[in-house]
Parts: sequence; C-alpha cells; structure tokens
Amino acid sequence: MPDSTTAEAPTQSPFERIGGHAVLRAVTDRFYDLMDQDPAYAELRAMHAADLDPMRASLPAFLAGWAGGPRDWFEVNPGKCMMSMHSPFPIGQATATQWAEAMRRAIAETDVADREIADAMSDVLARMAKGMARD
Ligand code: HEM
Repeated sequence: MPDSTTAEAPTQSPFERIGGHAVLRAVTDRFYDLMDQDPAYAELRAMHAADLDPMRASLPAFLAGWAGGPRDWFEVNPGKCMMSMHSPFPIGQATATQWAEAMRRAIAETDVADREIADAMSDVLARMAKGMARD
C-alpha cells in the first residue's frame, strides 16, 4: 500500500519526457538536413518547397502539441487534419518509407532525454507516414 504521505509524481507527457521544444527542434532540423543532403530521400525532397525553413518551424510545433506539449500549432491551424492536408501530395509507399526512415534516423541521431519514449515516437510516426501512402 503506497504511503499516503508521499504524493504520486505527476506523469510526464511524451513532450516533457523526450526533452521539450529544444529536442524536437533538433530532431526535425536533423530530419530536414537528411532530406536535403542524402540522395536516398531525393523523391521526398522533390515534393517539398525549395525553402524548408517554414517546415523547420512547423513540424516541431506540430509534434509538440501532438506529444502532449504546448498546442500553439493547433491553435494557429484549427481543425487541420494531417491526413487530408497531405492529400494533394502524390505520397506512395516509396516516399512514405523515405519519410519514416529519415525520421527514425533523425530521432536516433539526436541526443534525447528519454530513449524509450523517443523510439516509441519513431514507431508511431512511421505508422502515420505509412498510413498516408496511396499506392
Ligand atoms: C508520408 C510521408 C510524408 C510526406 C511525403 C510529406 C510531405 C509533405 C509536404 C510536401 C508538405 C508541404 C511542405 C512544403 O510546402 O514544403 C508537408 C507538410 C507538412 N507535413 Fe508532411 N509529409 C509526410 C508525412 C508527414 C507526417 C507523418 C507528419 C506528422 C507527423 C507530417 C507533418 C507535416 C506538417 C506539420 C506539415 C506543414 C503543415 C503546415 O504547417 O501547413 N508529414 N508534408
């Protein structure tokens, strides 16, 4: 029986556990660097605008809210659904796999506060990306 005097430590959100904005920004910067520099992701890169800076700001803000942190991105984009937002792009198995792999590498190559939650996030993001493939 837990001792009634010791308060339960509040459970941390995945956002807090991974290390907050600084870590998500480091992950997504590595993600877009990989997309920009590694020819393995050329097809995925070609789908994006020449200037990736708007995405370097948007994706970490989206992931922060998605991971239980501040919901600024969702306040700025009320009702915006990731699946329908991506429907204009010709996403197939190949580009979805490139997205998932680049994200898995970016998370693996970034210094995170909690590797367990980081790996779990990799798995969920890979499933989301694969769910966007339409071929
Ligand atoms: C399946 C692979 C994916 C492909 C090929 C893809 C491609 C794209 C492209 C081409 C854009 C527009 C970027 C631009 O204008 O330069 C975009 C925007 C975006 N994508 Fe993806 N995406 C994929 C998966 C995902 C996933 C899994 C997430 C989230 C977990 C995501 C989050 C976003 C966000 C937040 C934006 C910007 C939306 C905005 O602020 O307007 N994408 N994506």
